Amino acid sequence: MSADSRTPTALRVDGVSKRYGRTLALDDVNFEVPCRSLFALLGPNGAGKTTLMHILSTLLRPDNGKAFVAGFDTSTQPLSARRKLGIVFQEPSLDDRLSVRENLELHGLVYGVPRKIRRQRIDALMALVELTDWADKPARTLSSGMKRRLEIARALIHDSEILLLDEPTVGLDAQTRERIWHYIRELQRERDITVLVTTHYIEEVEACDQVCVIDRGKVLADGSPAELKQRYGQQLLRVVPKTEADHAALAARYVDRISADRADALILTSDDAFSEGFLAEHGARIRALSIEVPSLNSVFLTLTGREIRDQAASARDQTRAFGKIGGEHTR
Ligand SMILES: Nc1ncnc2c1ncn2[C@@H]1O[C@H](COP(=O)(O)OP(=O)(O)O)[C@@H](O)[C@H]1O
Ligand SMILES: [Mg+2]
Repeated sequence: MSADSRTPTALRVDGVSKRYGRTLALDDVNFEVPCRSLFALLGPNGAGKTTLMHILSTLLRPDNGKAFVAGFDTSTQPLSARRKLGIVFQEPSLDDRLSVRENLELHGLVYGVPRKIRRQRIDALMALVELTDWADKPARTLSSGMKRRLEIARALIHDSEILLLDEPTVGLDAQTRERIWHYIRELQRERDITVLVTTHYIEEVEACDQVCVIDRGKVLADGSPAELKQRYGQQLLRVVPKTEADHAALAARYVDRISADRADALILTSDDAFSEGFLAEHGARIRALSIEVPSLNSVFLTLTGREIRDQAASARDQTRAFGKIGGEHTR
């Protein structure tokens, strides 16, 4: 399929709702993913991310609304939609007994990729995710991070132009998460594809082109990280009072602005005018003052009234994280 035939919108979710019994997992969700962008769907556990990924990958039908992949309706043209997609599900899905190369071969066969092209792509993709040296090792001997990379490579064997990744970094240590993101960005640029990634790690979406914030089945906001920070971000003022009495006096005076009240500091919601006035008025009571520029964390806080946290990391996630001990290349 030539690049010219691509639609300007790679993925479109149009008023999609989905209910499981009493749980309304998705509630009138709307968003568009532009072609050739790195797009993040950010939300805490239970937000509805996986449900959306299943709908986009044609595994699940929405109760209401429509989802489109490269212009194909996932409900009425699922096969055409599927051809455009590479998918990495949240649940690991490698065949542990097969080697790295065999896992890739199998997927290429299933998608009917001709043998010669298959060989070339497998070699190129193994090189891209730095698994060439592991080509003949059984998948079970790879570390969690390497398995993730293999799954990402596998999703690209049929030359998909849209890649869906459901929580590709969940349960991995910080360094491995960074590497996975490095590959994702490199893939997106090098192959000029569209990538939709879900995550509940806020710091990860900082480098994405667009972010859609979702919570309890509803889209709360979308835009570039800079736009979101400008619209919903909150500047914070970190105040270190001189004495306990100063601390108490300031806390009482600004009770409506307290974002956090720590032993050594008061964190107040702020803006430029407030910070300047604050220093002028309370200079005598404070030991130190610093301004924290709006972060995506504060965006999430503004939108939901709570911080996004890894509250409910499941036992499975912990198992995955455990598999990581000893670094990236555990044998
Ligand atoms: N098969 C299912 N049966 C019943 N409830 C489900 C099922 N799958 C998901 N849910 C519920 O739907 C909501 C959204 O889940 P999910 O899409 O997995 O969210 P996320 O991937 O963001 O963690 C949650 O409340 C979850 O408990
Ligand atoms: Mg999920």
